[in-house]
Amino acid sequence: VTVRPASTVLVDTAAATMAENGEPYGLVDDAALVITGGAISWVGPRRDLVTPPGAEVRSLGGRLVTPGLIDCHTHLVFGGDRSGEFERRLAGAGYAEIAAAGGGIRSTVRATREASGDQLLAAARQRLDRIHRSGASTVEVKSGYGLDLETELRMLEVGRRLGVETPVEVTTTLLAAHVVPDEYGDDPDGYVRLIVEQILPRAVEDGLVDAVDAFCEHLAFTPSQVDAVFTAAAAHRLPVKLHAGQLSADEGVDIAVSHHALSADHLEHATEAQVAAMAQAGTVAVLLPGATHTLGETARPPVEAMRRHGVAMALATDCNPGTSPVADLALVVNLGAVLLGLSLEEALVGVTRNAAMALGLDDRGTLQPGKRADLAVWDVDRPAEIGYWVGMGLCSSVWVGGVPSFDRDAGNGG
Ligand code: NIG
Ligand code: FE
Repeated sequence: VTVRPASTVLVDTAAATMAENGEPYGLVDDAALVITGGAISWVGPRRDLVTPPGAEVRSLGGRLVTPGLIDCHTHLVFGGDRSGEFERRLAGAGYAEIAAAGGGIRSTVRATREASGDQLLAAARQRLDRIHRSGASTVEVKSGYGLDLETELRMLEVGRRLGVETPVEVTTTLLAAHVVPDEYGDDPDGYVRLIVEQILPRAVEDGLVDAVDAFCEHLAFTPSQVDAVFTAAAAHRLPVKLHAGQLSADEGVDIAVSHHALSADHLEHATEAQVAAMAQAGTVAVLLPGATHTLGETARPPVEAMRRHGVAMALATDCNPGTSPVADLALVVNLGAVLLGLSLEEALVGVTRNAAMALGLDDRGTLQPGKRADLAVWDVDRPAEIGYWVGMGLCSSVWVGGVPSFDRDAGNGG
């Protein structure tokens, strides 16, 4: 039996705390961190460190430490892939056009319904592992490719198993209102009733769901159908978030705001008035540049208006087989800056502090006393490098709850 030291002290590091301490990135040069009982108990300049008695002292070898990154929007549990659809889109077919012809999300629904829980787990685990190795310690996972009671529950169970069987902290979101399944093609309201009366109550009863999401779009659900799903979520005391304004403008954001949604996501077509309403409600804007990139989308979310109104912006992979086959959060930092016009500091805040807010988690997202000791350690000198280099694999280790989950350089990193 190994006895854990009471505290671990990390030295030989610079800490991008991402806390608002007056420095860019909340940076502390020549920093030290003290971890006690899985949480950060102290962080500051090394010269002010008081080493707790019995502490284990570890050198980070001059590397940068940040909060463990948080991927607050993924669909990483799914069957099959859509590389064939990607080829068709590159040859000129549109996303909505493919969806209208029965492809798109519905083709992933068919593959997901056919897959067992173990098959879904194995495929999702590979993607989760890549996101983890890109720096993430917390990942949100949505359902939404089952669209029937049994398969939606199976997807959420896989999400829960990912949280138990991997080092990553996983939160699960019920996205049964992703699109209307074929069998309800002429009765979308009937499908909304199935969600409200059966899928949601069962998912709650089985302890499988942390939040509820929906896709508000002409090819998915209307604002009033979303309203019905969110009203049911509120009755179960579950927070809500919404895919809104991705392909076209509608009242989705207004519905999200009226339900005090944790986040509204995508937002390419959000209006200034909607941005102002989000600021009022404290709804986080989750921006998904992997989808922008993959779809060759030319519309951009109104980042300037978000800044002006003080809307918190988060970034996520949106890892999914249709619009964002992306499993690298450091790449998302780069794409958020290059494609969406965020500063690199805003982009890093977007995958740490603001991503925690988008999940309603106030125990993580910054390096501050009292927060979980979820850390990412980087082979860089400056925080800006995380979003500057592309494909360099610069994350050398991730700590979750005070425990290193992998150390790329220690031989167990694969
Ligand atoms: O976030 N917008 C809807 N849902 C996903 C796409 C899902 C798919 O195409 O499979 C998204 O982009
Ligand atoms: Fe999405």
